[in-house]
Amino acid sequence: MTRTKLRMPLHHAMQAVHARLLPRHEGQVASYIPALAAMPPDLFGLAALSSTGKLMEVGDSRHPFTIQSVSKPFAYALALDLLGRRAVRDAVGVQPVGDPFNTIELDPRTRRPFNPMVNAGAIAVAGLLTDALGDRAFPTLQARLSLAAGATLELDSAVHDSEAATGDRNRAIAYLLRAAGVFRADPVRVVDVYFRQCALRVTARDLAVMAGTLAAIGSNPLTGAEVFGVEAVRDTLSVMFTCGFYDGAGDWACRVGLPAKSGVGGGVVAVVNRQLGLGVFSPRLDAEGNPLRGLLACEALSEELGLHAF
Ligand code: DON
Repeated sequence: MTRTKLRMPLHHAMQAVHARLLPRHEGQVASYIPALAAMPPDLFGLAALSSTGKLMEVGDSRHPFTIQSVSKPFAYALALDLLGRRAVRDAVGVQPVGDPFNTIELDPRTRRPFNPMVNAGAIAVAGLLTDALGDRAFPTLQARLSLAAGATLELDSAVHDSEAATGDRNRAIAYLLRAAGVFRADPVRVVDVYFRQCALRVTARDLAVMAGTLAAIGSNPLTGAEVFGVEAVRDTLSVMFTCGFYDGAGDWACRVGLPAKSGVGGGVVAVVNRQLGLGVFSPRLDAEGNPLRGLLACEALSEELGLHAF
């Protein structure tokens, strides 16, 4: 195993990056899901978990928020584990796409979503899980994500209800996917599994543990729980690396060089393969819908600690 030589101690670097970015107040908290707008905008937390189980936290690392799209790679890993790569690949591709997260477009060659990081792909994954598990789909997702976090992740019903009341675009995507034969279950039910998955409450600390579980090839470094299989983790990290930032994925790969995923609730995870999971919370989003200081923090840590994959 090759290990990156850390150029400065991690906790020191996290504190310095946190202090440097704390005064930045650009961007807005998401409001297209109305309940998200209630989040105090200037919270900022960083957490990191090494694959040997060392946890470090700075700032608002224990403040709860909803996981949103950061759930997508973990739901994908669960589907790969439960249903196998062939079944999952038949339903959703692994192709980066230069469109935003809520694109309605399917890959014209396959009539399947381009990848599991865009909403269409994540809803396809929720559809596969609903076909296979019925009413157990959401509880199974909740249990597996909780195992990855080493904590019980609860549903934020206010955020769930708010998204359910306004999420017609995602419902439209779910209908389109069933019409294309991606899954058989009722689209309204499938999209509700997806909304529940997105409304799970986490902290930056939880995200660091979840990312650390991917970094440690599927076993939770804090609890020792075996959460995901090796092949599921490999495919998941590959799509996080190539598709995690939607239309900004190529730029991210060059600048930061880490598999990562953001969510409109303010969360970001980044994974240093076999070494470290990072979790960030910062609710103000940039124009593309990514947590602005979350991205800057990952970029600064990658640069200062030499974490880039290449
Ligand atoms: O489907 C949605 O719009 C939200 N539940 C999640 C979107 C999201 O987090 C996109 N992330 N960058």
